[in-house]
Amino acid sequence: MKAVLAYSGGLDTSVCIRLLQEKYGLDVVTVTVDVGIEEEEIKKIEEKAYSLGVVKHYTIDAKEEFARDFIFRAIKANACYEGYYLSTALARPLIALKVVEVAKKEKADVIAHGSTGKGNDQFRFETIFRSFGFKVVAPIRELNLTRKASIEYAKKHGIPIPVDIDKPFSIDENLWGRSIEGGILEDPENEPIEDIFEWTKIRKKDEEVVTVEFKDGVPISINNERLDPVEIVVKANEVAGSHGIGRVDIIEDRILGIKSREIYETPGAHMLITAHNALEQLVLTKEELFFKEIVDREWSKLIYHGHWLHPLKEALDSFIDKTQERVNGWVKLKLGVKSLEVVSRGSPNSLYSKEVVSFDEESIDQNEVKGMLKYHALQTMLTRRFKNI
Ligand code: ARG
Repeated sequence: MKAVLAYSGGLDTSVCIRLLQEKYGLDVVTVTVDVGIEEEEIKKIEEKAYSLGVVKHYTIDAKEEFARDFIFRAIKANACYEGYYLSTALARPLIALKVVEVAKKEKADVIAHGSTGKGNDQFRFETIFRSFGFKVVAPIRELNLTRKASIEYAKKHGIPIPVDIDKPFSIDENLWGRSIEGGILEDPENEPIEDIFEWTKIRKKDEEVVTVEFKDGVPISINNERLDPVEIVVKANEVAGSHGIGRVDIIEDRILGIKSREIYETPGAHMLITAHNALEQLVLTKEELFFKEIVDREWSKLIYHGHWLHPLKEALDSFIDKTQERVNGWVKLKLGVKSLEVVSRGSPNSLYSKEVVSFDEESIDQNEVKGMLKYHALQTMLTRRFKNI
């Protein structure tokens, strides 16, 4: 019997390889999906998998697909859940879809993942595995292992432990963001120590103006340099991160209802979504903007809850794509130490009219508005029993 395991090279998934072999009696094929892993890491992960006795290991480079089909969708939807730009949540479905591809090719009997029974990732992985009819094995959850038990098991079985025992943080990183949780951060009263941050260490103190250009709702250039989707996301992280922009420290409501303290570094997401939002304000109608806010929120909630393949998500995508046809133009942002402000914007699809808004122009006959005002309070007047319209 064969299992295909989504493998990150971290503690839990490494422990899973051995558990699947020993406790479940399965041959293990591992899959590492690269959605923004450092190059040296990839080789190490593969070596680690083989040293733990897997029968085969796959590394799949999905960076381009992640940026184009996932991150760019998130930008169009201004995706944010309780202040979290969905970095981990957005990558999980793509990882799961790639794992399914391998499982089909390998004619696997089951798909395995190393998520615990408390978090969100089990939902995000399993909705996809199950949507393709696969049986799922989740050893960490099924054996009810705590982090301490995992570390002990790893020690006993000669599994190299990647976490530093003094700083036992659980870190997840991809192109769209970096998440740090666990250890002393579990207590929301504790301030995060500077050591945990990597992407948002301040490297630039001078102010800088950055121009982001959009076409059909997605960024196409930064400071007039045309970039492909991966490059644009990397560049946005670099530019905003160097000013210390994009740190998020929140109490987040997990799928299960557990409140957890979460820390993120999402500089690129913060900059690109702020710019995108500013451009939408210029080109979309009031009705579209108000309705889209609801759609964006629902879209983000669906993604957080692991429903990438949900029919509602697809329907919302159609609405979002339609609105984005007019989201063309540019936004200028001023970046300073830990600050980001929109300072100007322009678009060929702008609905802004200087003549209409200006106090000095006569393009709107002020007298005509009187009729509108007469009826504007109609229902309020009726409620208060004034009938003399
Ligand atoms: N709370 C976030 C989510 O549910 C991030 C989880 C990231 N995991 C980690 N091991 N740091 O999407």
